[in-house]
Amino acid sequence: MINSATIFLGPPGSGKGTQAKVISSKIGAKHYSTGDMLRDAVKNNTDLGKKAKEFMSKGELVPDSLILSLINEVFLRDNPNRFILDGFPRTVNQALELDKLLQKIGRPLTTVLYFDIPDEEVVRRITGRRTCTKCGSNFHIEFNKSKNDGICDKCNVKLILRDDDKEATIRNRLKVYKDSTSPLINLYKEKGILRKIDASASIDLISESIIKFIS
Ligand code: AP5
Repeated sequence: MINSATIFLGPPGSGKGTQAKVISSKIGAKHYSTGDMLRDAVKNNTDLGKKAKEFMSKGELVPDSLILSLINEVFLRDNPNRFILDGFPRTVNQALELDKLLQKIGRPLTTVLYFDIPDEEVVRRITGRRTCTKCGSNFHIEFNKSKNDGICDKCNVKLILRDDDKEATIRNRLKVYKDSTSPLINLYKEKGILRKIDASASIDLISESIIKFIS
């Protein structure tokens, strides 16, 4: 059985979302993806979406204040027992605020899975990624094909290339990751809860090793 709170940490395109969807449904955990929540907000043209859009399209981080109020709201609403955080926290400040929130709801952070992958593999994966605008499922034109070319297996709607998945934006997202998010690797290593995953392996192999880690 999964620990209470697991973070999937890693660069863009390292497979966090793909694995979080597989693992959460296998073990009955709630999956929180700040990227998916923000894309929904942009699609629905909410106040949050209007504010987040320009940061996301440039591959910059959305300001901490917006992300933290979003996370606080969903956690206090759901009060989840068992969950995977995908794409959050992404700054040291977000990590410190998450600690406070988890303390408040009495769910200790148990595992941080670090998806380790070279930059060039990230670029290859992201430029080939195709995303469903309805359910957010991700496919890849080479490594994780949909059954019908360009169509989502679940929703039967057209798959698209995300706005922030163009090569220049990906390079900026990698830089932002290195500057703002990678310091979390040491932070969680020092706490003794970081586990490194070889994210270059196949989707099935990675799922197997994650299940081993969190069981
Ligand atoms: P977000 O959506 O979180 O983007 P990201 O972290 O950059 O991650 P990605 O979704 O690009 O990649 P992934 O690791 O999930 O990989 P995936 O499984 O899709 O955030 C988007 C934006 O929102 C940010 O840039 C920022 O502006 C904002 N934001 C979000 N959270 C924020 C926060 N906390 N603070 C501030 N701003 C925030 O896989 C990629 C591709 O590879 C897919 O095509 C997949 O099919 C394929 N693939 C997956 N695994 C494998 C494998 N093992 N082998 C081969 N192919 C694979």
